[in-house]
Amino acid sequence: MILVTGGAGFIGANFVLDWLAQSDEPVINLDKLTYAGNLQNLASLEGDSRHIFIHGDINDQQKIATLLKQYHPRAIIHLAAESHVDRSIHEPEAFIQTNIVGTFRLLDIAYYYWKEQEGEAQQAFRFVHVSTDEVYGSLCKDAPAFTETHPYQPNSPYSASKASSDQLVRAYHHTYGLPTLITNCSNNYGAFQFPEKLIPLMIVNALSGKPLPVYGDGQQIRDWLYVKDHCSAIRRVLQAGIPGETYNIGGWNEKPNIEIVHIICDLLNELHPADYHKLIKYVTDRPGHDRRYAIDARKIERDLGWRPVETFETGIRKTVKWYLDHQDWVANVHSGEYRKWIESHYQEHAG
Ligand code: NAD
Ligand code: DAU
Repeated sequence: MILVTGGAGFIGANFVLDWLAQSDEPVINLDKLTYAGNLQNLASLEGDSRHIFIHGDINDQQKIATLLKQYHPRAIIHLAAESHVDRSIHEPEAFIQTNIVGTFRLLDIAYYYWKEQEGEAQQAFRFVHVSTDEVYGSLCKDAPAFTETHPYQPNSPYSASKASSDQLVRAYHHTYGLPTLITNCSNNYGAFQFPEKLIPLMIVNALSGKPLPVYGDGQQIRDWLYVKDHCSAIRRVLQAGIPGETYNIGGWNEKPNIEIVHIICDLLNELHPADYHKLIKYVTDRPGHDRRYAIDARKIERDLGWRPVETFETGIRKTVKWYLDHQDWVANVHSGEYRKWIESHYQEHAG
C-alpha cells in the first residue's frame, strides 16, 4: 500500500480517487483536516476498505511511526501543506510549521522506517515530495520557462516554505540515501479546489453575483494544468522516476489572469446565462506578486513519457460544469471560517 499525506485536500483527494479508480492497492490517507481538508471530497469512497483515513498531523512523529509499523507502505506521497499564497502573506507561521517543520519530521521518520527495511522492500521504497513552480521565483515576459536547474528564488512566505522543504528532501537523499523524488508543478485547477484560489473563486463569486476581484492589472501569467494530469504525472514519477531527481510538471498553458476570468465568464454565460463580465473588478495588487510562471516540462516527457491529456479548453469546461453541478459542495465549504477570511482579505484589497 501507499501512504498519502494531505489526501483530503484538492490535489490529494483527486490523487486518492484516481489511484483507487485504477488500482486495488490500498491508500492510507493522513490528513490534519485544516480548513482546506474536506472528507466530503472522498464521500464516494465510504465503505471502501482500500481507503484508510487517519486524522493526524505530519508533525506528529509518534503517530506516523505507529502507522508505518502497522501498514508497511511501499511509498509516501507527500502533499500535505498550507497552500494559499495570500494566507501566507497574512499569517506565515502555519506555513513554516507545516511546510518546513512538518516536512522535516515526516522525512526523518520516513528515513528511520526505510533504514529498517531489508532487501527488495528497502530498494523499492520511494518518498515523493509534491512541490510547486513558485520556488523558482518570477519570470520576465520573454524569459525561457523554468527547467529543473533554474535557481531557487522564492518570493512569498508560501514559496519560501516550499523551497525550504524541497532543500530538506534533497539533503535527505544526498546525505542519507533516502530514495526521494521531487516534483515542481504549475497552477492546478479542477474539481474540489477550495474557492479561495483564482478559478473556483471566480466561478463561485460569479454564480452568486459577487464582484470578480482581479489583482493589479490582471496581466500576471500562470501556467495552468488540469488536476488529473498532475495526478497522472505523480503516479508516473512514483513508478519510473529516478531517486534523487526533480521533475517539473506543467500544462504548456500560459495565460494572463484576466484572460482566465473572461473565459470563465464566457463559459458560465453559455451554461448558466447571465452577464458575468460586468462583475469584473480590478482591486489592489497582492504584495510581492510574481509576474509570470512557466514550466518547461520536457524532462518528464523525455525521461518518463508523460504529457498532459487535457487542453485548457477541455479542462476548464469540465471544471466550470463541476462547480455548477456541485453547488451543495460549495455551500458546505462556505463555513464561518471561510467567510471570515474572504471578508477580511478582500476588504484590504479594496484598498
Ligand atoms: P490544499 O490546501 O487544497 O490541501 C492541503 C491538504 O493538506 C488539506 O487536506 C489539509 O487538511 C492538509 N494538511 C495541511 N496541514 C497539514 C498537516 N500539518 N498535517 C497533515 N495534513 C495537513 O492544497 P493543494 O492545492 O491540494 O496542494 C497539495 C500540494 O500540492 C501542496 O504541497 C502544494 O504545495 C502542492 N502544489 C499545489 C499546486 C496547486 O495549484 N494547488 C500546484 C503545485 C503544487
Ligand atoms: O504555481 C503553483 C501554485 O499555484 C501553487 O503552489 C499554490 O499552492 C497555488 O495556490 C497557486 O498559487 P497562485 O498564487 O498562483 O494561485 P492563486 O489561485 O491564489 O492565484 C492565481 C493568480 O490569480 C495569481 O496571479 C493571483 C491572482 N488572483 C488570485 C485571487 C485569489 C487574483 O487576481 N484575484 C484573486 O482573488
